[in-house]
Amino acid sequence: QQQGSVAYRAAVLHFTGDPSATQQSYEYYEDGVLLVGADGKVKAIGPASTVLSNHQNVQVVDYRGRLIVPGFIDSHVHYPQTEMIGSFGEQLLEWLNTYTFPTEKQFGNKDYAKGVAKTFVNELVKNGTTTALVMATVHPESVDALFEEAAKRNMRIIAGKVMMDRNAPDYLLDTAQTSYADSKTLINRWHKRGRALYAVTPRFAPTSTPEQLTMAGKLLQEYPDVYMHTHLSENKGEIAWVQELFPSSTGYLNVYDSFGLSRKRSVYAHGVHLRDDEFASLAKTGSAIAFCPTSNLFLGSGLFDLQAAEKHGVKVGMGTDVGAGTSFSALRTMGEAYKVIQLHKAFTDTPAEKKPLTALKSFYLSTLGAAKALDLDDRIGSFKAGNEADFVVLNPNATELLKFRSARATTLEEKLFVLQTLGDDRTVERTYIMGKRQDVAASGNKR
Ligand code: GUN
Ligand code: ZN
Repeated sequence: QQQGSVAYRAAVLHFTGDPSATQQSYEYYEDGVLLVGADGKVKAIGPASTVLSNHQNVQVVDYRGRLIVPGFIDSHVHYPQTEMIGSFGEQLLEWLNTYTFPTEKQFGNKDYAKGVAKTFVNELVKNGTTTALVMATVHPESVDALFEEAAKRNMRIIAGKVMMDRNAPDYLLDTAQTSYADSKTLINRWHKRGRALYAVTPRFAPTSTPEQLTMAGKLLQEYPDVYMHTHLSENKGEIAWVQELFPSSTGYLNVYDSFGLSRKRSVYAHGVHLRDDEFASLAKTGSAIAFCPTSNLFLGSGLFDLQAAEKHGVKVGMGTDVGAGTSFSALRTMGEAYKVIQLHKAFTDTPAEKKPLTALKSFYLSTLGAAKALDLDDRIGSFKAGNEADFVVLNPNATELLKFRSARATTLEEKLFVLQTLGDDRTVERTYIMGKRQDVAASGNKR
């Protein structure tokens, strides 16, 4: 009856709730087992002694000394920008014009797109990221290329064709009509095919006409279970521009709301400069924010107010936003998120009210919190029995410094904090997707 099940023995951690909302937010077994069935789904977790005595004759894979957590979820990333990480000197709008648009031009060539998609998926795996919400480019071929690469690994990817019909170079523009038709074709081709899911993806308000945003709303009406993925309130110059382009709107979020784009499975990247009423509106519509600390620091966009999002009950997931973001690593992203939240103290008259970001919360935002933001917590983000067994094996001794420092960390929280402060892709010893061990093309520090 247990045939084909595999018991992964290690320290095992996953979340059952939000650490800033509940006392009992996680389960942790220092000598634990994650039991995965032949169907690639979680059968059980618990103390090794209990799980192994309840399930005899299972194959045991010994990862003692390591930490197993659910696969990381990247709530916002641009795969075509893999090749332009680390482009110097500009803030958002100039950065888009100078670096991003010329780069994205090349993705009308399917072979080119395939090559970058392969590198991108490989980077995700190396960094322990097993699900991502991804922006492609305006070209339908770019979406096919990504979903095809992800399917090779049975990876759960949400992605969509960028819709943009103004304020970008001609070579990147579609029209309201073609963006509607192309998105529809892609939804029919990819949504729910294997683990693929589709996101209707207007780039951001400035690059869509009202006609195009109307079409985006129409797609959401016609396909209620697809995603909506865009950018919101990232940069002050951007926000002022939105007000000029949509003079009758009451604010940036209101533009999207007025086209029916806010609802469950709507994910807004950034939300750095949101007003209280905008946070409240996001909570009311069930929309989510992707918090992208490395990007917000790199482009000098500002400091996301996680505490305000929490206060209003807005769902938040952690995102890398590569290539404005500077790392594919969820651990690096958590490390920078901590610094963003710390910096709030320097820019407020009431520093005592600003609380530091705990490691538990950061790991939550990169696993179960992101799964909730993406409305996928019934399938991924935790080791609930029946969930898809996407998981990572982290090695707290991966580098000399980590080993040296980890040896002095006593509590779970301290160990996690050290991991997120010093860890990176070297810390990710293995990545499993639906119970299947993944190989990476150019592995560094792997067994
Ligand atoms: N806003 C519109 N497009 C983009 C993009 O590609 N990256 C970021 N960070 N913000 C955007
Ligand atoms: Zn982005």
